[in-house]
Amino acid sequence: MKAKIRGNSKIEGEVSVGGAKNSALPVLASLTLISKEVLIEKIPDISDVAEMISMIRAAGVSVNFTKNKVTARVSNLNGEIKDLGSKIRASILLLGPLAVRTGRSRILYPGGCQIGERPIDIHLEGLRKLGIDIKEEGDFIEANFVKSPRNVKIEMRFPSVGATEHLMMTSVLLKGTTVEISNCAREPEVVDLGRFLISMGARISGIGTDRIRIDGVENLDSTIYSIIGDRIEAGTYMIGALSTGGTLKINGIGNEIDNVVNFLKKIGSKIEVLPNSLVIYPSNVKGFHFMTGPYPEFPTDLQPQMALLGFSSEGPSEIVERVFESRFKHVEELKKMGADISVDGNKINIKPSKLHGAMLVGNDLRETATITFAAAMADGPSEIDKFEIIFRGYENLLEKLKDMGIFAEIIQIDREVS
Ligand code: UD1
Repeated sequence: MKAKIRGNSKIEGEVSVGGAKNSALPVLASLTLISKEVLIEKIPDISDVAEMISMIRAAGVSVNFTKNKVTARVSNLNGEIKDLGSKIRASILLLGPLAVRTGRSRILYPGGCQIGERPIDIHLEGLRKLGIDIKEEGDFIEANFVKSPRNVKIEMRFPSVGATEHLMMTSVLLKGTTVEISNCAREPEVVDLGRFLISMGARISGIGTDRIRIDGVENLDSTIYSIIGDRIEAGTYMIGALSTGGTLKINGIGNEIDNVVNFLKKIGSKIEVLPNSLVIYPSNVKGFHFMTGPYPEFPTDLQPQMALLGFSSEGPSEIVERVFESRFKHVEELKKMGADISVDGNKINIKPSKLHGAMLVGNDLRETATITFAAAMADGPSEIDKFEIIFRGYENLLEKLKDMGIFAEIIQIDREVS
């Protein structure tokens, strides 16, 4: 799919963010654990969510998804998800819960954005400690579960978001077992998943800290739960507005994004924080330096977008990427637009630049968002091939771009190759 973006735009107006993709995916995966009907609100209508829903349906969860609401029930679970799921990395989250529920699960190796090695060793090592036997066969991973030890202690070598979520969900139904996980991820989406599980009667303490304890229960109760707003979607729009000097109100986001707002304020951004929204004002931003890292450090998912702010700030900037070793694909695309940007090891150097329209190609999700906003602020129109990647994580994007004063149209839809 190819999109044309009209350039010379100021990103301004009022826009609302949807529910967080990175909360929705683990929350949906954890529906394989339920016994009673649950209702979840604010699930974003994006293609990664559609993919996860097809996977949990294939596992036997009945799902109804309309108007951002998911109702789900479980009748007959099946641990084998044949050829679905290689597209999103979060598919790995089904391995442990399905093994506990059905005795044996088998899934394809997870896919997702090509932003580095993204191994799953922390997930698998943790599952083994929980008493799950793991076999890796070609493109498949098989997990067999009989019984877990009474007390399990897992120390993660890195605070992986996915592994923290995966081990937490897998432990919830291990009745008679106490699991303590240390060096956990503290991302707001990990907390959201924990709150969702607790709302169904799971016994979890320490969410939001680097030590989580789970006492297994027999089964989970019904619940009605609303997930948090998408801080990465909000951050993308916020950086877009700051980079073009527009005034933008972003609704639907709470204090999950405070660490980014505080950093942006420190470098000169004018941002007003209201109870459930942010207002961005025209600002003079200084050149900046930051490193990405696990929460509460700066999120890697907003690293590509920050290059845009580097182009419009006063003086050179430097970003060090410490989470994914090859999250630099946007750099080549931005260079096509005349940007002064280069990569040196895991450091990106950015100088103030004037961008012009160009023929661009989308790669991973956040990079495609970055070049879309770069195209909006550039002088003259741009075309972006493989634009569909952006719909993996940005709900109603074309309408929202319009709300922010950006004109984008789809000019080519690829024919399905059968
Ligand atoms: C999640 C987010 C993603 C975000 C990332 C980091 C979802 C669906 N995706 O991805 O948007 O960019 O957190 O904030 O929530 N690692 C290992 N072994 C493992 C697991 C991870 O080496 O078993 C490494 C990864 O290669 C990477 C780092 O740890 O370098 C962070 O990965 P992780 O926190 O697991 O990210 P995801 O859960 O995949």
